[in-house]
Amino acid sequence: MKFFVDTAQPDDIRALNGYGLLDGVTTNPSLIAKAGRDFKDVVAEICAMIDGPVSAEVAATDSAGMIAEGEHLSRIADNVVIKLPTTLDGLAACRHFSAKGIRTNLTLCFSANQALLVAKAGATYVSPFVGRLDDINLDGMALIRDIRTIYDRFAFPTQILAASLRTANHVTGAALAGADVATVPPAVILGLIRHPLTDSGLATFTKDWAATGQSIL
Ligand code: E4P
Repeated sequence: MKFFVDTAQPDDIRALNGYGLLDGVTTNPSLIAKAGRDFKDVVAEICAMIDGPVSAEVAATDSAGMIAEGEHLSRIADNVVIKLPTTLDGLAACRHFSAKGIRTNLTLCFSANQALLVAKAGATYVSPFVGRLDDINLDGMALIRDIRTIYDRFAFPTQILAASLRTANHVTGAALAGADVATVPPAVILGLIRHPLTDSGLATFTKDWAATGQSIL
């Protein structure tokens, strides 16, 4: 499973990339608003610091507007992926970009039927939002499993990008459910490596090693 980071903060991306933890980046309009900077400048900066795909979302809600904005965003860098809403207009824009070989990420997917149409439109990625389904007492991870079953049955190449993952358990669940990619906030990615038994075990080993008075180098 690939790991994308879900943020528009270049400093966070730089830090995680330094540990070799990142395969790509996703942004959305809310994350851009939080970053408080010019959208296209931030996307260009992120694209320059990472080799993998960087999702940049259109603001228009009609297909003509999405196509115009997506074309513009795709010229920022080769690794820009055009993020489109999972609506009828989004599907039309998706077909346009698929035909041109421009990668797309269909976002705000909340049902297996939406994911089926997204795959038929030739999207590169579908983004089912796990946490937002859990928020309303539905089973977000069941959606990932259903999409995996459908995509495998019909051999759709669209990749499942599990989104709205907010906890370490969500990441494990997405991996078990067969997501191709997990997009995860920076703090959650960093939390995945922590374990109290690793910390206490390392403290003991460090103390016992010091008691030997030896040096490896
Ligand atoms: C994914 O592309 C979205 O940006 C993101 O995962 C949404 O997460 P949230 O529901 O926690 O806002």
